[in-house]
Amino acid sequence: MSADKIWSNRFERKTDALMEQFSTSLPFDQKLFDADIAVNKAWAQALAAVGIYTAAEKDDICAALDSIQHDFHANALSFPAGVEDIHSANERWLIDRCGEAGAKIHTGRSRNDQVVTDLKLYLRDHNQALQRAVHSLQSALVETAANHIDTVMPGQTHMRQAQPISFAHYLLALFFQLERDRQRLKDTQTRCNTMPLGSGALAGAAFAVDRHALAAALGFAAPTENSYDATADRDFVNEHLYCCSQIMVHLSRAAEDFIIWSSEGYRFMEVDERYATGSSMMPQKRNPDSLELIRGKSARVIGNQVIGLCLLKGAPTAYVRDLQEDKEPIFDSLQQTIDSALIFAGVVHTLIVYPENMRKALDPALYATDVADYLVRKGLPFRQAHGIVGSLVALAERQGQTLQSLSIDIYRKQSTLFEPDVYSLFDPQASLRKREIIGGTGKKSVETQINRAQELLEL
Ligand code: ARG
Repeated sequence: MSADKIWSNRFERKTDALMEQFSTSLPFDQKLFDADIAVNKAWAQALAAVGIYTAAEKDDICAALDSIQHDFHANALSFPAGVEDIHSANERWLIDRCGEAGAKIHTGRSRNDQVVTDLKLYLRDHNQALQRAVHSLQSALVETAANHIDTVMPGQTHMRQAQPISFAHYLLALFFQLERDRQRLKDTQTRCNTMPLGSGALAGAAFAVDRHALAAALGFAAPTENSYDATADRDFVNEHLYCCSQIMVHLSRAAEDFIIWSSEGYRFMEVDERYATGSSMMPQKRNPDSLELIRGKSARVIGNQVIGLCLLKGAPTAYVRDLQEDKEPIFDSLQQTIDSALIFAGVVHTLIVYPENMRKALDPALYATDVADYLVRKGLPFRQAHGIVGSLVALAERQGQTLQSLSIDIYRKQSTLFEPDVYSLFDPQASLRKREIIGGTGKKSVETQINRAQELLEL
């Protein structure tokens, strides 16, 4: 057999040099190395059970795989010439160490079922790592929220002041977004939990290996149901890409909030120096680069999602080499998303909050809804109450006044339902107290949310 490709005997000419570089996946699929060793061991065991290996050969193979794994991590191995990917590298190393027994390892197997099994194992680990990263950000959010139940800030819609909320309420909004993300990761894992090995190239292995035993050995719930589907399936990659995109979109929106609120116009908060950088030119600068990078990386992760979908849309069912292009996007998305969540957790843990600036920023117009509700409580239909308060706001604006500074006479001209107690509405805590509803920004509501959040973090 030629020392070139594992398939080179069928060929008369050598692969073009650029084609060689163009087609190799080794520079990136080395990330699958450990998964590939696990898959090889399980397959050796399965082959022994159907008589391809003697028990002694199987033991030799497993010992050789352990030593390859050791040497690989010690950087003591170099890639044999002509190997195209991590799967053929492992096979070559195994043949180098075990001779004929090594040459039997690919019996009944294809790189098509091998790569997809490796990838599912890799995703299982990284799915969990991403869940842990999201969990640590959620913990940082809940801890910070617990310190800011009484910190009132102007809640905004359309980037305009809307109604007072507590800073804790805002932070918990981020928590519950991320809780959906964490649940989504768990759910995605359930569909990733089927084992393709034994599917061969497309039609199923011609050796009666026990696929249930193989699935159990590799920690999967069950074997895949159809070999043609299993070797061509990358849905689980796309689902993970989506999990990453959705997390990054959440982080990017939150980063945008923090960047705006730490800017000179607001000064509600400041990113700690550990997560900020300076300017090479302007000595005064302290920029929130951690958050800007998270926002920037979200674009890259969304891009990866598009790659995953486009890869499949034109690919005929069954393995095609296009599918090799799934790896860089998914490896990149997982790494960027894990790092972004951990960096954001650091930003939140060390965040410098200025409650006084938040309080000072509260505009009396924030209480307009509470003023309308005051009339509603006295029996006026809401639409009419809304109209009356709208007129008062416009009047105040024309007179260079605020809703709070208008005299009681002016109020009473609009509606005799107004009494002097209307001015007690212009109090952020009073406004929050009215919102003790499930999910509201009232103090008790927020405490309930914190308790629920803590429970969810324990699950
Ligand atoms: N490196 C390949 C990939 O990532 C492995 C499978 C190759 N299979 C093949 N029939 N050429 O998809």
